[in-house]
Amino acid sequence: MEVKIEKSVYGGKGLGKINEKTCFVPFVIDGELVNVDIVKEKKSFYECRLKTVLKPSEYRVNPPCKYFTYCGGCDYQHISYEKQLDIKKSILLETLNRIGKLEIDKVDKIIPSENPFYYRNRTQLKVRGKQLGFYMKESKTIVDIDECLLLKEDLGESLKGLRELLQFLDIKPIEIHLYSTNLDEMLVKFIYPFSFKRFPLGLKHLKAFVNKNIIGIGIFEKKGEFLKRFISIGKQFAYESVKIMDKDIKYRVSINSFFQVNRFQIKNLINEVLEEVDKEFNEVLDLYCGVGTLTLPISLKAKNVIGIENNKFAVEDGNHNKKLNGFKNVKFIKADAGKDIELLNKFSPDLVVLDPPRSGITKDLLNYLINKESIEKIIYVSCNPSTLARDLSKLKEKYQIKSLKLIDMFPQTYHIESIAMLEKGIDG
Ligand SMILES: C[S@@+](CC[C@H](N)C(=O)[O-])C[C@H]1O[C@@H](n2cnc3c(N)ncnc32)[C@H](O)[C@@H]1O
Repeated sequence: MEVKIEKSVYGGKGLGKINEKTCFVPFVIDGELVNVDIVKEKKSFYECRLKTVLKPSEYRVNPPCKYFTYCGGCDYQHISYEKQLDIKKSILLETLNRIGKLEIDKVDKIIPSENPFYYRNRTQLKVRGKQLGFYMKESKTIVDIDECLLLKEDLGESLKGLRELLQFLDIKPIEIHLYSTNLDEMLVKFIYPFSFKRFPLGLKHLKAFVNKNIIGIGIFEKKGEFLKRFISIGKQFAYESVKIMDKDIKYRVSINSFFQVNRFQIKNLINEVLEEVDKEFNEVLDLYCGVGTLTLPISLKAKNVIGIENNKFAVEDGNHNKKLNGFKNVKFIKADAGKDIELLNKFSPDLVVLDPPRSGITKDLLNYLINKESIEKIIYVSCNPSTLARDLSKLKEKYQIKSLKLIDMFPQTYHIESIAMLEKGIDG
C-alpha cells in the first residue's frame, strides 16, 4: 500500500493516510512516498510497517548502527541530524499549540548536541540468561547487542566484558545499569527480582573483566517500580565536574540519584537556564532539583536558593555538593514538590525553576504557581512536550511565555527536551 508521509509526530513515527484514515509508519521522513503493510487496525487509525521507501527524502541517511529498527532505543538514525532537530522543533510547536492552545509561533533557540552519538553517560541493559541488550520497540523481546553508538565510550567498551561475566554468574540478574561520569568514574548496578546474601564477584573482578573505570557496584532487588539495594561493593557514588561561570562545580552523584544523561549538554542546559536568571533574585525555588545540578549554579546569581527533591539520596548528595563547593546560600529539602504545598507556602520565591519527570506537574503545584503572588518568573525545563503543553495551558492564566528553547538531550530518539520561560502578565 502506498502512503505519502504528511508529517512527523511525537513518538518517532510519520503520519499519512490510507483511504482517508490516518496511519502511522515508523522510520520514515515527512514528504516521503513509502510502501507499507497494515499491522494493526484501530477505530480511527492504522499502525503500519515500512516495507520500502519509494521516494526518499533528501534528509535520509544510512543508519550507522547495525541494530537500527530492531532495537527499541533509537527512532531517528535514518534522518540527518539537522533534520532531526527541525522535526523536533515542529513537533514541539505543534504540541504546544494543539494541546496547550498557546499560539506560539517560534522556538527562540535550538541547542544541538556537540556529538549526536556517544553522548549517553547512563544505560539500563536488560538481561535474560546469556542475552544482554535492549528491548525491541513495543515488546519485551531482548535485542542482543555487542555495541551501542549512543553510549559514552567506556560504557560501550564494557558490553563485551559484561557478556563474558554473565556466563560465570549462577544467578543471573534481570538488568544491569551502568553510569560513567565526565571524570570517568563508573558505577554498576546489578538488578535481581529477589535478594540474597553474597555476590560472587568483587570490585577487582569487575575492573579486570568489564572496565577499569568501575569504582563501585550496587546489588539491588526490584520490587515493582522500586529498587532496594542489599549489597554494596566499593564506592556508592561518583563525581561529575562542570565548569560554570569560571567555577569548576563538582557534583557527587549517588548510585541511586538522577543526573542528566547527555554528557555534552549538561553544561549547555545549566548555561541556558542561567541566561534566564537575568537579575539577582531574592529567593529561588528549584523544584525537582536532583543532586543540585541547576540549584548550585543558580545560587551564583541569586541571594538564596532552595532545592526540593523527593529522593533522599539525591538530597544527601545536594547537601554534600553544597559543602564541597563552598556554597552558603543554598538549602536542600526532601519533599514531594507536587504535593507538599504547605511547605512551598512557607517561602516567598520571586523565581521558580521546575524540572519535573515526564508526568509534568500536579494540579496542586499548578494552583500554587498561579496563586503565589511573590512569583515573578518561572523557568520550566521539560522532557515531555505533551505534559508541558497541558501545564502551560493552565499557567497562561497568570503568565506569559517569553521564550522557548529546545535543547537536544536525546539525539537519534524522538525525545524532546525544552526550556520555557514565563513571566507574570501585566494583570498577573
Ligand atoms: C528530570 S530530573 C531533574 C533533576 C535536576 N533538575 C537535574 O537537572 O539534574 C527530576 C528529578 O525530580 C525528582 N522527583 C521526581 N518526582 C518528584 C516529586 N514528586 N517531588 C520532588 N522531586 C521529585 C527525581 O528524583 C529527579 O531527581
